[in-house]
Amino acid sequence: MSKPRNFDESDNISEIIEQTGAEIETGRYPLAITNNRDLYELERRRIFGRAWIYLGHVSEFAEPGDYARRYIGEDPFIVTRDETGDLHAFLDSCMHRGAQFCTAENGNTSHFRCPYHGWTYKNDGSLQGMPHMAEAYQDLDEEEISLEEAELDTYQGLVFGRIAEEGPDLEAYLGDFTWYLDVLFGTTEAGMTVVGEPHRWESDHDWKISADNFSGDSYHVLTTHQAGLETENLARGPWEELDDFPAASYLACTDRHSMGYYLSADADTYMGYPDEIADHLDDDLTAEQRELFGRSVFHFGTVFPNMSIIHGIQSGGWGGPWACIRKWNPRGPGTTETTSWWLIPREFADDESFLEDSHRGWESLSPGGAFESDDLTIWEGISESSGAVTHELRDTHGNMQQGIGAMTDEVEPIDDPLHGPAEVTSKGLYFDERNSRTMLRSWYELMREDGEGSA
Ligand code: FES
Ligand SMILES: [Fe+2]
Repeated sequence: MSKPRNFDESDNISEIIEQTGAEIETGRYPLAITNNRDLYELERRRIFGRAWIYLGHVSEFAEPGDYARRYIGEDPFIVTRDETGDLHAFLDSCMHRGAQFCTAENGNTSHFRCPYHGWTYKNDGSLQGMPHMAEAYQDLDEEEISLEEAELDTYQGLVFGRIAEEGPDLEAYLGDFTWYLDVLFGTTEAGMTVVGEPHRWESDHDWKISADNFSGDSYHVLTTHQAGLETENLARGPWEELDDFPAASYLACTDRHSMGYYLSADADTYMGYPDEIADHLDDDLTAEQRELFGRSVFHFGTVFPNMSIIHGIQSGGWGGPWACIRKWNPRGPGTTETTSWWLIPREFADDESFLEDSHRGWESLSPGGAFESDDLTIWEGISESSGAVTHELRDTHGNMQQGIGAMTDEVEPIDDPLHGPAEVTSKGLYFDERNSRTMLRSWYELMREDGEGSA
C-alpha cells in the first residue's frame, strides 16, 4: 500500500502538483488531481488564464459583424469580426457595472448595447456612447473606455484566444504540432469550413479526462466500445477495404500536444474523401504531409488544454469522412460543457451526398451517437470516484506506464519524415500511453507556481 500522505490543508495542493511533476516519467500519477475542487480553481487561473484556448473557426466569422459566445475557462467571451475585418474576443462584461452585454449565442451586429443602462459598444470593442452622456457625466473620456479584450490569433483557420498578455505567440505555443494541423485543417486550397452550428452538451466529468481520451487513447476502444465492435459495425464499410488495417497505428507527441492516427498502405486513401480531393490539395503541403494525408484513415488528438480533434473515415453504417473539433469547456469542478464543431473542406460544401455521409459520421460521436454514451458513462464515473477523499488521504496512484522502458516491447520509435517532426512511435496496436504523459506534463508545466510552460 502507498504511504499515507501527510495531510496539511495549506500546502496540500502545491504538494499534489509537485508530486505529479516528479512522477510523470514513472508513468504514475496521483488520482487526486481529477475532480479536485481546489486544483480546479487553480486550473482556471494557471491553465485557462495562461494557455492559448480554441475559440472557433474563421468560417464562423466570415462577415463583418459576425459574432459568437465562446469561453476561455469559465470566462464568457464574445468573438467578433469588426467592420474592418479584424477578429476580436471580448469579455462579455460591460465596463460600467459588468453586466453581460450580449444576450444571444451568435449572430451579426455592428454594435452591442448593454441591457442594464444602455452603454453601447462597436464590434471592435470601443465605446460608442451611452444614454444621457452629457447630463450624466462631466469628465468621462469615452475614448479611454473599451471592452476587456483577449489576445487573439489564428492558425489554419483555427481561432485561439488567451487571457494572459504575456507568453509565447500562438505558433510557438502550438510548436511542432502545426505540422499535423496543416495536414488536418490545411489539406485543400480553400481550407475547411464549419457546417451548421456546433452541438453543445453538459456532463459531469472533469475536462482533463476527455482531453486525455482524445489525445491518443486507442486502448479503451476494445473495452468501452465493445458493443460497437461486437456488432461488427466497426469492421464493415471502408475500413474492411484496407489491406493492413488496423495494424498501422501511430502516436505523435510534441512538447505539449499529441495525436494518434491510423494509416493504410494505400496512398489514395485520403481519409475516405472522394478522389477529387487530390485535385484540390494545397500546394503549401510538403511531400511528406501529402503522403501522410494520402495514406490516412483516421486521426484523433488534443491540443492542450481543451481542444480535441477527430478527422477521418467513419466505418460501418456510420458514414464519413468528417472532421470534428471538440472543446471541453470547464464549467465547475467535475463539470464540462462540450462543444462539437463539424467541418468539411470548402470544396465539398455543396455536395449533398458527401454532406449526408459526412454528417452521419459526425453524429456518431454526438451524445445520441453510437460512441459518446459509452464514453460519457465512463468519464462521469472516473470523475465521481477520483473526487474521493480516499485517494487524497491514501495517496492513491493511477497508471499511465504503457510504452515506458520494458513495460512493452511493442513500441517502436519512427524516424521517418512521413510522420512529421513529433516524437513518433508505432503502437503495434494499442500499447503506448505517451500521449497521456505528454498531456500531464503540459498540465504540470502550467500549474506549477512560476508557470514555466507559458514563459
Ligand atoms: S452595466 Fe452596462 S450599462 Fe450599466
Ligand atoms: Fe471512446
